[in-house]
Amino acid sequence: MKNGRRIAILSGGGDCPGINAVIRAVTKKAILQLGLEVIGIEDGFHGVIHNRCRKLEYDSVSGILTQGGTMLGTSKTANPYRYAIKKGNKLEFKDMSKTAVENINKLDIECLVCIGGDGTMGISHDLLRDGVPIIGVPKTIDNDLKGTDITFGFDSAVSIATEGIDRIHTTAESHHRVMIVEVMGHHAGWIALHSGIAGGGDIILIPEIPYKLDAIAEKVKERHRKGKRFSIVVVAEGAKPKGGNVVIRRVVKESSDPIRLGGIGFVLGEQIEKKTGVESRTVVMGHLQRGGTPTPFDRVLATRLGARAVDMIENKEFGYMVGVKGDSLISVHLKDVAKGPRLVPLDDPLIETARGVNTCFGD
Ligand code: F6P
Repeated sequence: MKNGRRIAILSGGGDCPGINAVIRAVTKKAILQLGLEVIGIEDGFHGVIHNRCRKLEYDSVSGILTQGGTMLGTSKTANPYRYAIKKGNKLEFKDMSKTAVENINKLDIECLVCIGGDGTMGISHDLLRDGVPIIGVPKTIDNDLKGTDITFGFDSAVSIATEGIDRIHTTAESHHRVMIVEVMGHHAGWIALHSGIAGGGDIILIPEIPYKLDAIAEKVKERHRKGKRFSIVVVAEGAKPKGGNVVIRRVVKESSDPIRLGGIGFVLGEQIEKKTGVESRTVVMGHLQRGGTPTPFDRVLATRLGARAVDMIENKEFGYMVGVKGDSLISVHLKDVAKGPRLVPLDDPLIETARGVNTCFGD
C-alpha cells in the first residue's frame, strides 16, 4: 500500500462468465493508477461474516481474464440481514448485519466493491444504509437488473444457449420431431428471446407473454402442413401458461429468493406430443449457460465496468452501481437497482422483429 488506502471486493449470487475479468480490472487499475491495496473477500457475504479474505496482488489476478467462475468464490444464500444457520436438521435465520458492518470497518477500507445481481445489490443497498461505502458492478446471465441496459455474463449465456439450439436442429430435422430447449433467465425472458432469435426458434416462450398450448400446437401443425416436419421450441424456465403457474424445480430455504425454476420444458414436451401427435424431446441447458469462458463481448464489458468502478472509487461515488446506457457507462443509485427485476417489455422491438419472421410466442 503506497498511500495507506485500501479497498475490498467480493462477488455474490450465482457465478457467471466475466466475474474474474471484473476482479482483474478493478485490482489492476486500483493498484496501478491509485496505489491502493486490494482485499478479496471469499464466498460473497459469507466471507464478510466469517472474516475470510486475502490480499490480491497484481500478479494474483494475472491470467484470469478468460476464466469462468470467480476466483473469490461466491454464495447465493449468504445474506447478513437474514443469515441462515443450520442447527441439526433445522434452519435458523439471524440478523448478522452488525457483525458484517463491524468486520468491514475492521478492514479499514474506503470502499467495498460488490459484483452481483439483484440479490447482491439489495444487500449492498442495505449495507450502504448502515454506513458501508459501496460500489456495485452488475452481473447476471439473466440480464434482468434494473438501471442497466445489459449485464456481463448475458452475452456468454446467450451464445451457449444458441449453440445448444443449433445442435438440436440436427435431431429435430432428421427425426421430424419437436425439440424443446429450456433456457435459464429466472422470471425474465431475455435469454430465451435472444437465443431463440439467434437459433431460429419457431416458437419462443417467455415469462412476460403467458402462452396458450393450443397456439403452440397450431404452429407445430401449420409447419407440418407446409412441409416443415420439425419444430424448435425455446422456452424460458420462467414461462407459464395463460392463467397458470411456473414450474418449480426446488426450494432453497436458506436463500432470500428460495424458488429455483425449471422443468417447464418436460411438461411442454408431453403436452405438445399429446396434442399434435408429433414426437417431442426436451433438453435443459441449465448451468451450462453459466459455465466456461466469457465471450469477447463480456470480457470487454466486464473490463470496462471494473475500470469504471475504480474511477467511481476515486470520485467517491459511493452508493452507486456502474450501469450501461446505450454505448455509455453511467452511475445508478443502488436504491433504483434494488427495485426488482427488469423484465422484457411487451413493446420490446425484438419481439416485433421475431414476429416479423413468423416466430410464434404462444399467444
Ligand atoms: O440468476 C442466475 C440463475 O442461473 C437463473 O437463471 C436461475 O434461475 C438460477 O440462477 C439458478 O440457480 P441455482 O444455481 O441456485 O440453481
